[in-house]
Amino acid sequence: MIYPSMLELVGNTPVIEISKFFGFPGVHVYMKMETFNPGGSHKIRAAMNMILDAEKQGILSPNEWQTILEPTGGNTGLGIAIVAACRGYKVKLVIPDNYSPDKQKKLKLFGVEIVLSDSNRGGNSHGELAMEIQLENYDYVMLNQGQNPANPDIHRQTTAQEILRDFRDVSIDYFVGGIGTGGHITGIGEVLKQEYPKAQIVGVQPRGCDLLANKFVLHQIQGLAVGIIPKVLNLEIIDRMIDVTYEESLAMMLAATRQEALLVGLSSGANLAAVSKIVEELRGKQLDRPIHILTMAYDSVFDYLNLLE
Ligand SMILES: Cc1ncc(COP(=O)(O)O)c(C=O)c1O
Repeated sequence: MIYPSMLELVGNTPVIEISKFFGFPGVHVYMKMETFNPGGSHKIRAAMNMILDAEKQGILSPNEWQTILEPTGGNTGLGIAIVAACRGYKVKLVIPDNYSPDKQKKLKLFGVEIVLSDSNRGGNSHGELAMEIQLENYDYVMLNQGQNPANPDIHRQTTAQEILRDFRDVSIDYFVGGIGTGGHITGIGEVLKQEYPKAQIVGVQPRGCDLLANKFVLHQIQGLAVGIIPKVLNLEIIDRMIDVTYEESLAMMLAATRQEALLVGLSSGANLAAVSKIVEELRGKQLDRPIHILTMAYDSVFDYLNLLE
């Protein structure tokens, strides 16, 4: 297949059935492998849509080398860097100083400028610092993924539609997803709720956080619970939250690599830990039909090698 640019390769990611990993007959578990996107994460979908949307609104113009400024854990940044390389923009990213150094190295490959925020100042330290930088540089364009409707929109328009296409003959009982900006759980959750009204949309959060009560603690699961309830998150579609620890997430990340060769990252490990809690609950019940659980793989284990040292 010949494509005009990397951007045409975004989306249409595969789904792997990983029921064997949980070993409970009657419960089918699937993981949508967003790691197959350019840049290796689901966040390029939002990055691309936010940039294309800003172009439609006349805020950004391709090949005029305007500076895009964004607070990010790294994955949105990588997505923005890829789209910016293809469409002619400069990129400045604000990243918490305790986030993956491997992602920062990747970003530097694109010539992206990185500013580190002090993670001790809270989960939204990068958002706050980006705001300060924006105020001093009025010509920078901040896409603001936590508030930008183009973020959840792309998941309604693409990710969710891919899921409906792949699960034509199967009714999804649970969708399990972590919440950073809330972009993907909102877009996917809304569409799944329409298609499968009984489906439970389950959010995953680091233990100690209580997103629904707007309570956050410092934690180590990058990408999740970013210290504020983001504007794009539709709280109404969330049926319940499951708490997971860093240790559970790390153990699942490793087990997923060793047993299924999934090669997924820490927040994907958190999703798997949450799924295993649902499977344990189901084990105690008499099931009169097969149960189908879908979760997401967000990024790669290779971004977290420093955690294994
Ligand atoms: C590694 C990782 N996992 C999960 C998420 C959460 O995705 P969303 O922003 O769609 O809630 C992010 C978001 O940046 C992420 O980088």
